Amino acid sequence: MPTPGSFADIYHYLFSDKPEREFSLSVPKEKARKYGQYFTPYPVARYMADWVNQNRSINLVLDPAAGLGIFFRAVMEGHPNFSGTFFGYEIDFAALEKLKGLFVYLPSVKNCFISENYLSIEDDRKYDAILCNPPYIQYKRIPNRKDLIKRVEGESGLHINPQSNVYSYFIIRAALALATNGRAAFLVPSEFLNSEFGIPIKEFLIRRNLIKKILLFDAQSSIFPDAITTSSILLLENNQQKDPIQFARLIQQGQSTYLSDLNTPPHPEINPAQKWSARLISKPITKHSRRLIPLSQIGRVSRGIATGDNRFFTFDNQKIKRYEIPARCLLPCLTRASQARTSIFSQIQFEHLANSGKSVYLLDASLDPENSSIQAYIRFGEANKSHNRFLTRSRDPWYRIENRPPAPILFTTFSRNQLRFIRNEANVYNLTCFH
Ligand SMILES: C[S@@+](CC[C@H](N)C(=O)[O-])C[C@H]1O[C@@H](n2cnc3c(N)ncnc32)[C@H](O)[C@@H]1O
Repeated sequence: MPTPGSFADIYHYLFSDKPEREFSLSVPKEKARKYGQYFTPYPVARYMADWVNQNRSINLVLDPAAGLGIFFRAVMEGHPNFSGTFFGYEIDFAALEKLKGLFVYLPSVKNCFISENYLSIEDDRKYDAILCNPPYIQYKRIPNRKDLIKRVEGESGLHINPQSNVYSYFIIRAALALATNGRAAFLVPSEFLNSEFGIPIKEFLIRRNLIKKILLFDAQSSIFPDAITTSSILLLENNQQKDPIQFARLIQQGQSTYLSDLNTPPHPEINPAQKWSARLISKPITKHSRRLIPLSQIGRVSRGIATGDNRFFTFDNQKIKRYEIPARCLLPCLTRASQARTSIFSQIQFEHLANSGKSVYLLDASLDPENSSIQAYIRFGEANKSHNRFLTRSRDPWYRIENRPPAPILFTTFSRNQLRFIRNEANVYNLTCFH
């Protein structure tokens, strides 16, 4: 570690992958391959740590292939009041020494870093959180493979394919060590989703209702520059509930990584014997999809009107009467996606919504601010602090709505299943539920 000048220097150093990058420079390629020493980029570690941290108090945290403890550091950054204990196993003495050296800077955190082979130790503890980027080592190069298979088969009751890569044993052993309601995140090659040796692992994770999400890195994004592999993140939770498994792609563009839509296939379609990555994880739409063109080529796309306080700004017929709002200050407007369900939205449909008491009017008080009813309603809004909300407080006057004229075509902002496009024949305004 470079001599740090200040607390801020130490903080930035620890909550980054700088220690790993420095350490990697000192590791010969042959040694890196032997131990599978390819370290997790910090943003990926943070993403995984956030899964185990989410809304929960965690006490025992395990990384069975700890390296320099990037997952522990990521847990701490996301959970600054962490008061539990970090357990780490590391087979390489040099990495373990560096790990211990880093945690000298975090003296208030309890830890137990053990110089052992995780695959041969006896450890009966149950962990609330497990984070793991295991080594990737082909079956032929696994030392004492027969003994290992016997041990893990005995512990799990599985029939393990002898050609399993070493990371398979880490997934199974660590998953068995998960406490009730504990969460785990694994960063592993996506090959097991499609390979023969992955079948019993997929069966095991489904049978125990452990697997909740599978996120596949895009083939183009190589998160480990020196390793030829595509990666995936497995997110587990031992809540004993048959939650639907969600699949998605992690797409990298420049420095940013984002998720494609989550795909939730019906349970019977999730067959462990089939290849998962191609079938279950929806392909991102890219410029390579030749039959598609960007929307920007055929029109201007913008979001709908953000009011800052829909309760104040939207009206149904009863509310209009109650506050005696003049018609010239009311704009016809779709305020919820459920109000337009068909591919053409007509004037008749709008009138039907209005007559059945739906909130389909938007107030633009700036159209007649001197009107006494409008003034009374503005005062009512101010008494309810509508003028002090995030969006309204930056507008002048606060009750002026954004100037976004009706669009001829609308499409839904959030779609559980499918994007919906609607021809806006009624020429009504729309809130942010539509673009
Ligand atoms: C892929 S690296 C991941 C390190 C760190 N957790 C990270 O995500 O950056 C795997 C680490 O596990 C260690 N390792 C390899 N085989 C092991 C074993 N059988 N038991 C414990 N650690 C092992 C390697 O030395 C290496 O540091």
